[in-house]
Amino acid sequence: MKKIDPHFFGPWAVITGASSGIGLEFARQLAANGINVALVARRTELLNQLGLKLQREYGVEFRVITADLANADSLTTVREATADLDVGLFVSSAGAGSPAAFLDETPSKQSAVIQVNISAQLVLTRHFAERLIERGRGGIELVSAMGADLGLPFMANESGTKAYLLMLGRALNWELKSQGVHVSVLLPSPTDTPIIEAFGFSKDNMPMAPMSVERCVDEALVALRKNRSSVLTGRLFRVLSAVLPASLMRAVNARMLGKAARRRVELGLV
Ligand SMILES: NC(=O)c1ccc[n+]([C@@H]2O[C@H](COP(=O)([O-])OP(=O)(O)OC[C@H]3O[C@@H](n4cnc5c(N)ncnc54)[C@H](OP(=O)(O)O)[C@@H]3O)[C@@H](O)[C@H]2O)c1
Repeated sequence: MKKIDPHFFGPWAVITGASSGIGLEFARQLAANGINVALVARRTELLNQLGLKLQREYGVEFRVITADLANADSLTTVREATADLDVGLFVSSAGAGSPAAFLDETPSKQSAVIQVNISAQLVLTRHFAERLIERGRGGIELVSAMGADLGLPFMANESGTKAYLLMLGRALNWELKSQGVHVSVLLPSPTDTPIIEAFGFSKDNMPMAPMSVERCVDEALVALRKNRSSVLTGRLFRVLSAVLPASLMRAVNARMLGKAARRRVELGLV
């Protein structure tokens, strides 16, 4: 049985952040389910390589869209480059930000995070919601983060943007369901993608090994199919977040992220 119905969520999916990690895995699993993929990110060469691989392995069509979502003009590029496609699914996985003490980040970097994680999400979600409602079927998948409803020290601005995405998606899940459109928010617990090292963590000495990207996306697609408004990946993290007080969860994250922020300063990355 197909995990995700290509009639409902296809024939085309538009995926941002498709050059790496979670977005790339969405592209792979959707292609494996017979859905053509429009791949959006800045690194064109990686998108081309991925598209050719998915075409070869799953016989789907692909389109590469080079766009820097920190630049507002790129949103027009994405809209125009997908105008002729029958889009059944919009997956928004591109995200910006990394651990740092609030005042260590420059205001311009903080604004760029707002542009990628909020403004671009709003514009593209609105655009594809309009098209999907017109079709009367399809889905929107927004990638937020575990802790989006906690407030994460050393990622204060980023976690604010992820909270926005979580609230946007939960509200739209309710609003759009009567119009045949599924909306689901993915809250990834630590997942094995290049972001782990970019954040200054080392996979080998994290308190818990990060989950595989395949499993993360698998759980997200199940939630999307069932039209659950959000899913936190990993049973253990679901249990912990249900039983531990938010203040304790925040303190644990503060320790880890504070360490990562200090390491990034030592490495000259901030
Ligand atoms: N992995 C985790 O543990 C974890 C946990 C919580 C939340 N998340 C969220 O999951 C999402 C995907 O992260 P990941 O783990 O897959 O990280 P990743 O492997 O680093 O992928 C990030 C993706 O976002 C794209 N991107 C970043 N800035 C962009 C920009 N300005 N314009 C266009 N594309 C941009 C990157 O493409 P280019 O560089 O080619 O542009 C890349 O494809 C993010 O929103 C992240 O916040 C991940």
